[in-house]
Amino acid sequence: MSEKKLGAAVIGAGEGIRHIKAYHQCPDYNLLCICDPNQAQIDRRMKAYPVENVRLIHDYKEILKMDDVNVVSVASPDYFHAEQSIALLEAGKHVLCEKPMTLDLDEASAIADAVRKTGNHFMIAHPTRYTPAFILAKKMIARGDIGELFMAETEYAHNYRHVGGIDNWRKDARRDPLLGGGCHAVDFLRWAVDDLPDETFAYGTKKGLADWPVDFDSYFCLYKFRNGVIGKVMCSIGLSRPYTMRSVFYGTKGTIICDNLSPKIQLSSVPFYDSDQDATPFIDIPVEVNNHNVEMQVKLMADVVLRGADNHASVVEGARTVAACCAAIESAKTGKPVKVRNNF
Ligand SMILES: NC(=O)c1ccc[n+]([C@@H]2O[C@H](COP(=O)([O-])OP(=O)(O)OC[C@H]3O[C@@H](n4cnc5c(N)ncnc54)[C@H](O)[C@@H]3O)[C@@H](O)[C@H]2O)c1
Repeated sequence: MSEKKLGAAVIGAGEGIRHIKAYHQCPDYNLLCICDPNQAQIDRRMKAYPVENVRLIHDYKEILKMDDVNVVSVASPDYFHAEQSIALLEAGKHVLCEKPMTLDLDEASAIADAVRKTGNHFMIAHPTRYTPAFILAKKMIARGDIGELFMAETEYAHNYRHVGGIDNWRKDARRDPLLGGGCHAVDFLRWAVDDLPDETFAYGTKKGLADWPVDFDSYFCLYKFRNGVIGKVMCSIGLSRPYTMRSVFYGTKGTIICDNLSPKIQLSSVPFYDSDQDATPFIDIPVEVNNHNVEMQVKLMADVVLRGADNHASVVEGARTVAACCAAIESAKTGKPVKVRNNF
């Protein structure tokens, strides 16, 4: 007899189109429902990627009453993540929530409480955890390929001038760029270092998107981890350059350079640079480029729900990344080092 399939629904049909395709193509699911308040957006998506026998709705609350829906992707604008995730969890659904989990700590705590109270599964969709180059870099660090890691740099380099989203929802004082976009780099730093940041100090500036209603469009943030590793996150949504997340990991025996869009990562195992040496100190290791690997996320969610797999992107992980971002934002505003909250 074939294994049970999960019923899936997607809320928000922007980035949500990746979730729609991933559920539709994964044998563990029947895609049952797509929700977006904007009919024109639904029409556009269904024209480009038609799916049959799917309920097309405008109000996510209808999903709360759908007994055949087990897993729901929350891919609405950030402001709705907490309300929708909590309502879904309380209605017995498992939730795959787009990043950032929330825009403040109270909402992050509220989702964590709802997960504990209901016992339902929650995964945060931080794509760097599914990007082949970053998975390999983390694996190499963990198995000691570069000796002991002591310093790490990650980045989120973007320009949001033309990616405000439907109704320009990103251009909003509530959506700090470090939380909204920089959370990618902060989450990758935390995940790769595999420890908890204790304290942060950050500077911010605003020149690239000077007319945006945020305090800063660009940040340098330093993090001190409990294990002694120091980390630096560069985040900007106002750069004149192509989007990338170039990251560098420095260990006692080598260095890794990687990013989300290159078909290789670079490894140097030369302990000290020798200027007489002809050969380049870096070797290239080929990797697949898959920057938005939502297929792997929905597959992992099925493995967690149906087969008891470990959820490496739990609600606590999502909340800790929100907290690490909030601490750096506070530091940039106050000019003081700020302790990072890790207990959720
Ligand atoms: N993982 C990634 O790399 C990645 C990339 C882009 C966006 N995102 C995240 O995905 C989410 C959506 O961003 P986007 O790029 O799709 O924005 P978008 O503006 O392209 O699309 C948002 C969609 O949500 C719909 N919507 C608005 N209010 C809603 C509501 N109350 N309930 C349900 N749907 C609603 C809009 O009609 C629109 O179709 C955000 O949280 C964003 O941070 C993640």
